[in-house]
Amino acid sequence: MVQLTLPKGSAPKKGKEWPKPDGAKNAKAFKIYRYSPEEGGNPRWDTYWVDMDKCGPMVLDVLIYIKNNIDPTLAFRRSCREGVCGSCSMNIGGHNTIACTKGWDEVAGKSITIAPLPHLPVVKDLIPDLTNFYAQHAYVQPFLKTDTPEPEKEWKQSEEQRNELNGLYECILCACCSTSCPSYWWNGEKYLGPAALLQAYRWLIDSRDESTGERLDDLEDPFKLYRCHTIMNCAQVCPKGLNPAKAIAKIKTMMVERVS
Ligand code: SF4
Ligand code: SF4
Ligand code: FES
Repeated sequence: MVQLTLPKGSAPKKGKEWPKPDGAKNAKAFKIYRYSPEEGGNPRWDTYWVDMDKCGPMVLDVLIYIKNNIDPTLAFRRSCREGVCGSCSMNIGGHNTIACTKGWDEVAGKSITIAPLPHLPVVKDLIPDLTNFYAQHAYVQPFLKTDTPEPEKEWKQSEEQRNELNGLYECILCACCSTSCPSYWWNGEKYLGPAALLQAYRWLIDSRDESTGERLDDLEDPFKLYRCHTIMNCAQVCPKGLNPAKAIAKIKTMMVERVS
């Protein structure tokens, strides 16, 4: 059943405000969500003042600056620092995105709010628990499934067939789309969500794959696919410019075409 109130102890409270840096001509405030299960208690918003003249251009640079120079206890994920690993996804200024390609000067307002991706359990600070998200990705079996014997060298594709995968293969599994989707918020355990469904479609239309019927069977239930109501939040937030809603609509069309 959908829960419409926050569980006890989960509402963030005002936290610590760190001092402004001495002599900074260009200081900016960052309000950052903090939560540590070991410490217990409610989450809190800590405010950090950063001298932007000493910091790199991206929001991830700000977080690294804070961790290195102000508060080493701040926890967040990151790896590639160039928009290919999907680790640094979070909610910045009210929008899901990846911190390493988001310039802090692109975010409006006197102070910038940074929170974990919404509607997921929080492991610590800006780190969400993605266990269910990854299980949903595994559910769509994101790999080639074939019946014919392995070719000696490679599974061939024409240029046109390969082009069908453009706009799909680029997904970095950052979860920005799924965690911005209202249907996923309310039914995240049963609805696969835009990220997993985009991947499902990527394998459904791969010319080399030979399990299209089986793949469609696995999606055919009232929740896994059909909870998408074309609200389009997913396409708006994707930091790679992909359109999961369009992929979902195409899967629905494949479902209809196979029975007609
Ligand atoms: S279009 Fe579908 S998947 Fe995308 S946000 Fe809306 S309901 Fe969610
Ligand atoms: S479709 Fe876009 S927003 Fe969704 S997981 Fe992939 S890269 Fe991230
Ligand atoms: S650190 Fe890899 S996408 Fe941001």
